[in-house]
Amino acid sequence: MTALDGRVGIRGGVHGAQQHDSGHKHVAGTAEYIDDMPELAGTLHAYLGLSDVAHGEIVALDLEAVARAPGVVGVLTAADVPGHNDISQPGKHDEPIFVEKRVEFHGQPLFAVVATSRHAARRAAKLAEVRYDPLPFALDVAAARQAGGAVVTDPMKLERGDVAAGLAGARHRITGSMAMGGQDHFYLEGQIAMAVPGEDEDVTVYSSTQHPSEVQHMVGHALGVPSNAVNVVVRRMGGGFGGKETQGNLFAVVAAIAAKRFRRAVKLRPDRDDDMIATGKRHDFVVDYDVGFDDEGRIAAVDAVFAARCGFSADLSGPVTDRALFHADNAYYYPNVRLVSEPLKTNTVSNTAFRGFGGPQGMVGCERWIEDIAYHLGKDPLDIRKANFYGERDRNVTPYHQTVKDNIIARLVDELEAGADYRRRRAEIVAFNTGSKTLKRGIALTPVKFGISFTMTAFNQAGALVHVYRDGSVHLNHGGTEMGQGLYVKVAQVLADCFQIDLDKVKITATTTGKVPNTSATAASSGSDLNGMAAANAAEQIKDRLILFAMERFGVPKDAIAFEPNCVMVGNQRFDWADFIDQAYLARVQLSAAGFYKTPDIHWDRAAGKGQPFFYFAYGAACSEVVVDSLTGEYMVERVDILHDVGKSLNPAIDIGQIEGGFVQGMGWLTTEELWWDREGRLRTHAPSTYKIPVVSDVPKIFNVRLAEWSVNKAPTIRRSKAVGEPPFMLAMSVFEALSMAVASVADYTIAPRMDAPATPERVLMVMERLKRERAG
Ligand code: MTE
Ligand code: MOS
Repeated sequence: MTALDGRVGIRGGVHGAQQHDSGHKHVAGTAEYIDDMPELAGTLHAYLGLSDVAHGEIVALDLEAVARAPGVVGVLTAADVPGHNDISQPGKHDEPIFVEKRVEFHGQPLFAVVATSRHAARRAAKLAEVRYDPLPFALDVAAARQAGGAVVTDPMKLERGDVAAGLAGARHRITGSMAMGGQDHFYLEGQIAMAVPGEDEDVTVYSSTQHPSEVQHMVGHALGVPSNAVNVVVRRMGGGFGGKETQGNLFAVVAAIAAKRFRRAVKLRPDRDDDMIATGKRHDFVVDYDVGFDDEGRIAAVDAVFAARCGFSADLSGPVTDRALFHADNAYYYPNVRLVSEPLKTNTVSNTAFRGFGGPQGMVGCERWIEDIAYHLGKDPLDIRKANFYGERDRNVTPYHQTVKDNIIARLVDELEAGADYRRRRAEIVAFNTGSKTLKRGIALTPVKFGISFTMTAFNQAGALVHVYRDGSVHLNHGGTEMGQGLYVKVAQVLADCFQIDLDKVKITATTTGKVPNTSATAASSGSDLNGMAAANAAEQIKDRLILFAMERFGVPKDAIAFEPNCVMVGNQRFDWADFIDQAYLARVQLSAAGFYKTPDIHWDRAAGKGQPFFYFAYGAACSEVVVDSLTGEYMVERVDILHDVGKSLNPAIDIGQIEGGFVQGMGWLTTEELWWDREGRLRTHAPSTYKIPVVSDVPKIFNVRLAEWSVNKAPTIRRSKAVGEPPFMLAMSVFEALSMAVASVADYTIAPRMDAPATPERVLMVMERLKRERAG
């Protein structure tokens, strides 16, 4: 990179399209995952024994045959947990490591067996004899409601204006309901942990987790030892997507208990099937809505209930269902609104975080009533969307009473509409559909507005530890974890920029609780916002000390000292970075600092449903075109255009990758990924043979992804960038709505399709057939 004045800048600074630090290693197979680590002599392998009823009391748990199986070293049950048999979220006490008496879902861990090989442990786990006293169970939202509607956590309500009056006074009114499915994370690296016992109470746990501090806490709690005895290390995950925010706890805790018990290293890695059965997923939702609007489709009032299948325990269901409500407005202003969550308890695996964290479910519900309005009025859904966008000066208060101050949605959508040639293509598609008997096409343009910050205000903090060594090389550590999203390289770029040194002088090191304590999960898309700031803060502390040193040593004022590319200028004297650092060392300057950051200006009162939970919003829009075979329901995504806002990008290459990946993952959720439990509560879609994630051939044939390069974050984030991890996931709503349009074409767009998600080919076919029948009268 060459600066305008002809001097050479640093290599790999912020805003540059720097490659992922491990990209070449991912491809070459040299990136180390936990299962690749060299095993210590005598390493043992644990495996979980799972329940096979959805609800029941254990009458007898006979593990004789398990214990006697070849290679088995021991068996662990609830009675063998030295501390607390508990991995529930704070204050909940609703999630044991191993079942003590009452099984709450099909696939719940009952025991672990520890053996000399993974194969031996896995075989032995199947030999348990368990007898149960069955209990009645509720598997889904409908059944849970029928059984009395027990919840796993307190519901939330957001309310503003006068909903009853707004609905009563509206010229048009629609009620409806939509169900949308859950989603398995299908990270390529499954759950895994390896625990290495140390002396006294100590244990080191290598865990595939987005939340090392929580694993540390859970392991300490289970072993009955303080957190300072537990060190958790995470170099990288082979994907997390929210599925390793809490779900890694079980595996880490069991490995640690076994490691301390048998005084050997213990590794625990479930098969893909058991991973899918025993770990939580995205929440499926049922949304019931009542919406009033005028002739232009302008919404007067919304009254909606968002019910979620939470599974047997709270886990993160509270914050997930809250975030659904926080996004049930998407980009639209509701003059009068009431949104209520129903976090229902079911006898299924406890659902958890998944990219978007309830936001997608809130938005999909919202986009459904927007579409209903369009069909009711016989208008293009895009016009309804535009009529309801938040205003820049008025009509800008959300259902949670936060004012939207950084609204760029209208400009973004206008640019995409023009760039994707939406109007002309839509007219062509309508004409095509009239003349085409079998193939039906559809197009939709949908916006995204996503709130950035943890809604739990305390989580919006981060730490970093930076060392500058005598040779000028830099060691970077922070509390964020790398799951493929490129967090490490982004934070390293920030540090390179702060010190004005080439990126290859910064060594990114594995996240560990021993270096940066009390961290939050790498989640809510906030990784680079929080850790980038913490690292910059550490760098500024070191730079301040270097400046003081130079002022004293060379007797110059502060403004005579400048950090320039790979050197430090003191007046017109130039020092190579490494030389300067060495001199500072000899002058006994501290070259290490712990950085810290907490997000300013946010607060949230959940009971009142009021506050400012988000620091800012990230925006985006997508236009998707599909073609459907109306005889089979099969479809293809022909073209997708995306314009997405990441503020001033820290790394456009990584950000575009996040947008593409997030979009395709969202498309999988809304189209082909279908979870299916049988009547006994057994998950039947527990392998790629029955659960279809998108593959390379599902990527849209034409896929134009652009960043809104003019966007600069108004909020003072790290180098004015915006979070990117989750928001693009929701751009995939455009595929769902495009399919919906193709479906609606069979009834000349006179009937709102009312299609549930995922829009699998079968479902598309069934809804088309239903619309044809309804149209025929
Ligand atoms: N990208 C990859 N490649 N792998 C992942 O597991 N997780 C997503 C997103 N992008 C994920 C990903 C989720 S759920 C979140 S919250 C963010 O990354 C977390 O990282 P960030 O805060 O650094 O963006
Ligand atoms: Mo992401 S669902 O916040 O881990």
